[in-house]
Amino acid sequence: MLNVQRIRKDFPILSRKMDGKRLVYLDSAATSQKPVSVINAVKEFYEKHNSNVHRSVYKLSEEATELYEGARDAIAKFVGAKSDEMVFVRNTTEALNLVAYAWAMHNIQKGDEVLITEMEHHSNILPWQMVCKAKGAKLVYAKVRDFAIDMNDFESKLTKRTKIVSVAHVSNVLGTINDVKRLEKLSHDNNSLFVVDGAQAVPHMKVDVKDIDADFYAFSGHKMLGPHIGMLYGRKQILEGMEPFMRGGSMVKDVTQQDAKWNDVPWKFEAGTPAVAEAAGLVEAVRYLQRLDMDDVRKHEMQLTEYALKKMQGIKGVRVFGPRTNRGGVISFTLGNAHPHDIATVLDSEGVCIRGGHHCAKPLMQALGVDAVSRASFYVYNGKDDVEVFVKALGKAKAVLRR
Ligand SMILES: Cc1ncc(COP(=O)(O)O)c(C=O)c1O
Repeated sequence: MLNVQRIRKDFPILSRKMDGKRLVYLDSAATSQKPVSVINAVKEFYEKHNSNVHRSVYKLSEEATELYEGARDAIAKFVGAKSDEMVFVRNTTEALNLVAYAWAMHNIQKGDEVLITEMEHHSNILPWQMVCKAKGAKLVYAKVRDFAIDMNDFESKLTKRTKIVSVAHVSNVLGTINDVKRLEKLSHDNNSLFVVDGAQAVPHMKVDVKDIDADFYAFSGHKMLGPHIGMLYGRKQILEGMEPFMRGGSMVKDVTQQDAKWNDVPWKFEAGTPAVAEAAGLVEAVRYLQRLDMDDVRKHEMQLTEYALKKMQGIKGVRVFGPRTNRGGVISFTLGNAHPHDIATVLDSEGVCIRGGHHCAKPLMQALGVDAVSRASFYVYNGKDDVEVFVKALGKAKAVLRR
């Protein structure tokens, strides 16, 4: 079990008072807070090792390179991959755009289809819209029913025209955990490329990309206690056959006036000076999560979510959008007719940070028949005491916003 009180001491921001109230941070699905070990790793990089990587033989640069490549090795291990299959990117959004520009734009043709679901984040919609518009292909959505992918609908839409299937591992709105292994099997049996948006999975549960057998798997460091950096796992054979996403320094072996020879993977996809301090921070985040144990992280979030759902039932007018069980630590809800922004404002006055809006999932909002929802999301530093404060503040919001 996680010792929340002890964990909280590692997060300097959590000792902040918000207008005299304890900060109750329930927006980790947007971005997580950072432990002091991560903050120090970034600071230490600038204080002791700052220099550019891969480009010099002096000692300082060798240290930076070792830190950067060492981070890649450790993060690769964390998700069950090999180092040369892991590309550093800015975030999940950039990772999915990389796949869209560097794979899909070269492989999708007129009449092809890309199959996603109604529960995707805009990051896993807009790159495919771009590809489909540019290539005369069709973007197809599997329906969401009872807060899960309607598998009959999914299977009926998986056809010989489907070149790519791209799905969220965990929904950032519903908390639904999709059966990515089943989706992988169906997709690969259909000869479709299988892409997973793991932004809400890697921070919260043990993920093994080889076990899932995805062709690409994207995630963000800033949602898993790390700095603003992300990673894309790609099957090596596929990465090797791809054109680069961006062109510039570091990603070439040779350049002439009219031509260039690309570097090996993964560096072929890392044009320009990379985010070395952020990589050094992310590896500390991974170490922190490993010390906690990802199975315990998952168990903790399950218990907390269960507890919160039960408590929220006590407030009349609360409607939860998401499955009851087997779910991640995000709870989306509405409260009568109150606008989610107003709810978030009232909760803010109690020191509670939640998010209100469409959560970058407008097609899902349309499918759910709402404009916006409120969302509380939990992580390793949240405890039952946070749920108590949250639910009490929700009661206040109900009284204040009664219409
Ligand atoms: C499911 C999902 N996919 C993608 C993203 C985009 O992540 P980022 O903003 O780090 O690129 C998010 C962010 O909230 C998300 O929840």
